[in-house]
Amino acid sequence: MSKVSLTVNGKAVTAEVEDRTLLVHLLRDHLNLTGTHVGCDTSQCGACIVHIDGRAVKSCTTLVGQANGANITTIEGISKGDELHPMQAAFRDNHGLQCGYCTPGMIMSAIDIVNRHHSSTGGDLDEETVRQELEGNICRCTGYHNIVKSVLDAASRMKVAQAAE
Ligand code: FES
Ligand code: FES
Repeated sequence: MSKVSLTVNGKAVTAEVEDRTLLVHLLRDHLNLTGTHVGCDTSQCGACIVHIDGRAVKSCTTLVGQANGANITTIEGISKGDELHPMQAAFRDNHGLQCGYCTPGMIMSAIDIVNRHHSSTGGDLDEETVRQELEGNICRCTGYHNIVKSVLDAASRMKVAQAAE
C-alpha cells in the first residue's frame, strides 16, 4: 500500500492504495468520477483519457503512484458551472457523438490536441492532423466525420476565447 496525494479537478485528494492501482480505478471507484470510461483492456480505445498536468494520458495504463503529486483533470472538471467547455459545446453542436461512450476520452484528447497546436502553430489545425492525432481514440458509432468537424470548430472557438483573455 502507498499513500498518494494528487489534485483532481482542482481538489486535493489523498488516498491509500495498493501499488498496482490504476488511475482510472481511483477516479471511477474511489472518487466516483465515472465520466472517465474503460472501453478495452488493450490500451487502444482512449475512452479512459484524462489530463495529467495538462497533457492527455490513458488512465488505464497509468498507475496511481505515477500520478502522485500531479494535477489531474477529468471530463467532470472542464466546464465552468453550467457553461460547457468550448470542446463540449462544439461536439454538441456538430453532432460529434452518438452513444457517447467514447466522448469523454475524445474530448480530453481533443482539448490537448488544440492546446498543443495553438501554441506551436498559432492555431492552424487541419483535418488531416486531427485525424492523425485522434488515432489513439476509437469510436464505434460516428464514423469520425462529425468528431473531426467538432474538433476543428472547437479549435476556432478556443482561439477566439484565448484571444479575448
Ligand atoms: S480503456 Fe484505456 S485505452 Fe481503452
Ligand atoms: S459515440 Fe459511440 S463509441 Fe463513439
